[in-house]
Amino acid sequence: MKEKIQHLIEEVRLVSISTAEDLEQFRIHFQGRKGILNGLFEEFKTVANEQKKETGKILNDLKTVIQEKIDLFLLESEPNNEKPVSDLDLTRPVNYMEPGPRHPLSIVRNQIIEIFSRIGYTVAEDREIEDDWHNFTALNFPEEHPARDMQDTFFIEKNPDIALRTHTSSVQIRTMEKNKPPIRSIFPGRVFRNEVVSARAHCIFHQVEGLYVDKDVSFRDLKQTLLYFAKEMFGESTQIRLRPSYFPFTEPSGEMDVSCNICGGKGCNICKYSGWVEILGCGMVDPAVLENCNIDSEIYTGFAFGMGIERITMLKYQIKDLRLFFENDLRFLNQFKGVI
Ligand code: PHE
Repeated sequence: MKEKIQHLIEEVRLVSISTAEDLEQFRIHFQGRKGILNGLFEEFKTVANEQKKETGKILNDLKTVIQEKIDLFLLESEPNNEKPVSDLDLTRPVNYMEPGPRHPLSIVRNQIIEIFSRIGYTVAEDREIEDDWHNFTALNFPEEHPARDMQDTFFIEKNPDIALRTHTSSVQIRTMEKNKPPIRSIFPGRVFRNEVVSARAHCIFHQVEGLYVDKDVSFRDLKQTLLYFAKEMFGESTQIRLRPSYFPFTEPSGEMDVSCNICGGKGCNICKYSGWVEILGCGMVDPAVLENCNIDSEIYTGFAFGMGIERITMLKYQIKDLRLFFENDLRFLNQFKGVI
């Protein structure tokens, strides 16, 4: 039997398949149900045990040679024989997608974060949907304070204890409840107020809150920190001015102006000819607020500040309409290409 198979191997090698009909005949002849291979495998069953190994091997060789002959023909006759099995063509040229520029508010937020990280501030974020305690009560807002009025705040109708936070000061409380001093952090985030949308106001905007609580923190530290920030943000020659103000959660409270970086303080339409532009609210953390968070106000003092990112971005890039930030108009956004 071995010789017969050997012979067949030679025979198969010599066969030439040049048409599909040739192939079909070849297949039927060798691989058909009543073909040579099946016959041989049948015969193989009768081979003596000691012969099985060797005979089996040549029989398998024959099988392989037959299959190779078929494969070779198929490969050569297939006009598209380089076509991959799937439609995925990794050699196709790509459609270049221009990377989008960063949104101006993200650019400025990142700058603010970077400036404060350099003097040891960590960054934290918290929820946008807040309860009354964290947004108002713990921050010392008296019950009748107008900021609680439906005019300013988006309350949840079914549960007026829940509202969209109106400022990032709520994160001051969240942070002081969770951590003990020293605390030195900034909190960027989105805030919401029930405002009519105009060139100067929007119902959604962004703030960065700052909080520093430790032993012996004084108003001087606050002023130096804010002066450092103003110079880093708007340039070395920038000056600051603090005006007394009122916030329920800081005492004393102030509002900070920076010298107008457009006209250098001489007066222009951006600063409304005053030479100064307001950019943030600040003050020493009211002892009652520290106590609300179980921080001993006899031992610790702190300062806080909150700035609007839109405001600072408008100043920095001389943007006159706040609505541009939210419209996603590429003619506006593409002007920030290349700014990191
Ligand atoms: N939360 C105040 C606002 O939204 C800003 C502020 C923050 C004032 C921290 C003082 C201290 O206007």
